Amino acid sequence: MEEISASKTIFLSTVDSTNEEAKRRINEIVSPTWIIADKQVEGKGRHGKTWFDGKGNFTGSLVFLTSSVPSKFFLYGFFIGIALYDTIKHMCNEPLDLFLKWPNDIILNNRKLSGILIESQKILNSNKFFLILGIGVNLNSAPQLEEKQSGYDTICLADVLGHQIEEKKFFEFFKIEIAKLERAIEIEGLEKIVDYWLKRTYEIGDRLEIKNYKGERFTGCFTGIDQDGGILISTGNTTKRIYSGDVFFES
Ligand code: BTN
Repeated sequence: MEEISASKTIFLSTVDSTNEEAKRRINEIVSPTWIIADKQVEGKGRHGKTWFDGKGNFTGSLVFLTSSVPSKFFLYGFFIGIALYDTIKHMCNEPLDLFLKWPNDIILNNRKLSGILIESQKILNSNKFFLILGIGVNLNSAPQLEEKQSGYDTICLADVLGHQIEEKKFFEFFKIEIAKLERAIEIEGLEKIVDYWLKRTYEIGDRLEIKNYKGERFTGCFTGIDQDGGILISTGNTTKRIYSGDVFFES
């Protein structure tokens, strides 16, 4: 895996979206680079949704060149999700009801705290790609969303911890966790990340409701994650693999 912890950082005040800014600057990127904005005015979520940025929240994109094949890009999303999860645990001295929700969300007290948007750009006449990992974390404000539209409710870390979170401090802790995780998988390889991810998600056997990319919903038991990042759900005698969609808890 590329060494992404040794990164440089570009801080900006206001941008449309840090992922879009990363794409505009792609020709300047020579080593892993963070693009972090105080404020995003056109933040993007998965599946064409909008990411609403609240005051004092973290919005940033990590950009780097990779020779991984596109089917492995999800592993980087898991990698970042784990590092974020560990950062949040580390910043709180109290036990938290925190887990990773497939594919890339962090859920605190059953509400969405963070999301990750993975995008890529192929380098012409090469097998390499620029990978853009866009990360939003509700540190100090939870955007009020129409739950019916978004399918989830939001939360911010400050409300749970009872004090404001300094974005820069959060970023420092986050980079430490990225470096730790990088060292941990140095020997075992990036594929090992699925095992780390599974330790921070639902229990095997939990009943989940899934909406696939076509909008079809069904329920089943969580049985794991396959090598391509698909979620495995058993429904009666069959196991479905879903590669694109959203998970809900069965209510
Ligand atoms: C999701 O859960 O739908 C993914 C949300 C990703 C939001 C981040 S904020 C920084 C980066 N820039 C964007 O426009 N989106 C990502």
